[in-house]
Amino acid sequence: MARKPMMAANWKMNKTLREAEDYAAAVIPKAEDAGGVDVAVFVPFTCLNEFARMTADTPVIAGAQNFYFEDSGAYTGEVSAPMLLDVGARAVLIGHSERREIFFESDEMVAKKTKRALDAGLIPVVCCGETKEERDSGGMWDKIQAQIKAVMDAVDGDLDPEKIIFAYEPIWAIGTGDTASPEDAQDAIGQVRGLLEELRGEGFAGSVRILYGGSVKPENIAEIMSQRDVDGGLVGGAALDVESFGELVEAAK
Ligand code: PGA
Repeated sequence: MARKPMMAANWKMNKTLREAEDYAAAVIPKAEDAGGVDVAVFVPFTCLNEFARMTADTPVIAGAQNFYFEDSGAYTGEVSAPMLLDVGARAVLIGHSERREIFFESDEMVAKKTKRALDAGLIPVVCCGETKEERDSGGMWDKIQAQIKAVMDAVDGDLDPEKIIFAYEPIWAIGTGDTASPEDAQDAIGQVRGLLEELRGEGFAGSVRILYGGSVKPENIAEIMSQRDVDGGLVGGAALDVESFGELVEAAK
């Protein structure tokens, strides 16, 4: 089955409520026009309720950037999957490299969060990727393999490939302007798909979507998207401006 392309915006720690409202109003018509491309926007918790309310009953998928795997309790500063669902989130980023590197999230934590998101009915967008040193020293694939295996070991054997999305984001390419070459993106994402085939079979691996992230912009998206195994983009900087994000959605069509 053909995989539906996805263009996803990751706002990171940006935008006030007012800015989120303006973005929501502007992104809805772009998503309605996106024919055949899924459009997702991952917003800060403070905007999620309003952003999800404004985009409900539109093709825009409202998502969160993080959550904790317990449902409630003494976890100061955290929010849970039921809380995200309660305010209208449909998807959630898990294991973004900024969560892993700055907030010390382990492969085990990422795996637990993925399982919880799936059980709750949120679409997890599970991120993986290597540092520059890992790439240069040849340790890149060990790292990515461990990240993916930890997640797949934790989730049900009969997982529906449409309920989960992966994103390969080389850390050295995030926010640096230094995009992976289309060949490097294809190479890594092709390997991730190969690993998923080994772990879950051809049917799963052939249908699951894998995005590329790391300095995606309107100038390089077409070449990246033309790669066989690349199903879309997870975009930070170039998605903060809704017109620029709209160009990326157009290019993904
Ligand atoms: P960038 O971020 O597009 O600004 O490189 C991508 C991401 O971190 O998801």
